[in-house]
Amino acid sequence: MNFTVNRSTTLLALVFALLAGDPAAAFLRPAQIPESEPAAEPAPKPAGAQRPIVEPQFDSYDRANPDYERLQRPDEALQGFPLDENGKVDWARALRDGVITPREVLQGNETYLPLDLDIVMRNTKGMPYVRFPHKTHTEWLACSNCHPAIFAQKAGTARIRMEDIFRGEFCGKCHDRVAFITHRACFRCHSVAQPGQHMPY
Ligand code: HEC
Ligand code: HEC
Ligand code: HEC
Repeated sequence: MNFTVNRSTTLLALVFALLAGDPAAAFLRPAQIPESEPAAEPAPKPAGAQRPIVEPQFDSYDRANPDYERLQRPDEALQGFPLDENGKVDWARALRDGVITPREVLQGNETYLPLDLDIVMRNTKGMPYVRFPHKTHTEWLACSNCHPAIFAQKAGTARIRMEDIFRGEFCGKCHDRVAFITHRACFRCHSVAQPGQHMPY
């Protein structure tokens, strides 16, 4: 599989799509947000990033709730947070960039050292390999969330198919549920190019 995209061709296609009013180019136009809902400012992308522009997709509360007006609005609370490809908050980056600084432990002042160990998983067919970063995970989670119930402490043990993940097994115990959504965010996990492969961004 080859992910190289000719940028000038893409740009031309987008210009034509825009002229033709193609919905595919809708992400280039400001979102239609009702007056009662001011848009949150998307976070600035780091220099050099080529990812498509995404609109924030913050879940709203149940508007039928009589106390709706009293609740803090997610689009206000999450102003300026970095977003992923789904327009949801990229919590890993929010922590890394210091947008949030949660306490490391509930009580006391201990600091908790994350485990800096990447596991590259190569049974990915034509997709780029998966890099599993222990660092990001152990900034949020204790080892016992994954070991030994979900994963053995030995690289290459788990036999994982995307189908299992979508059904809530392995990475899917958390991803698509409490951690970032896999749909459209393939390359957050499949982040290591196979030999001769080019990443889309
Ligand atoms: C949360 C992380 C994660 C995300 C997001 C993710 N994958 Fe995967 N994917 C994996 C893991 C882990 C494996 C198994 C790798 C291994 O065992 O070596 C895998 C394996 C695969 C495989 C080979 C096995 C199979 O099921 O056929 C394909 C193809 C694949 N992924 C496609 C995708 C596509 C397309 C997307 C986006 C819709 C995606 N993946 C998003 C983690 C992810
Ligand atoms: C979010 C899940 C998760 C958490 C939390 C986690 N791990 Fe892992 N760990 C994995 C996965 C996935 C693998 C690879 C398993 C495989 O390939 O079958 C792995 C593999 C390992 C390995 C084997 C490395 C090798 O080269 O064989 C060790 C050692 C390990 N983890 C230690 C830890 C320790 C210590 C902690 C806590 C500080 C921890 N892990 C937290 C998911 C996790
Ligand atoms: C026990 C829960 C849990 C499991 C199991 C789990 N993750 Fe995660 N993962 C998280 C959390 C929590 C975060 C950080 C919050 C977020 O990004 O949504 C995260 C973030 C990530 C990130 C973002 C890293 C970054 O620094 O931007 C990647 C990539 C990832 N996970 C891949 C995987 C893969 C691949 C697997 C399976 C091999 C897996 N995760 C299994 C909970 C989990």
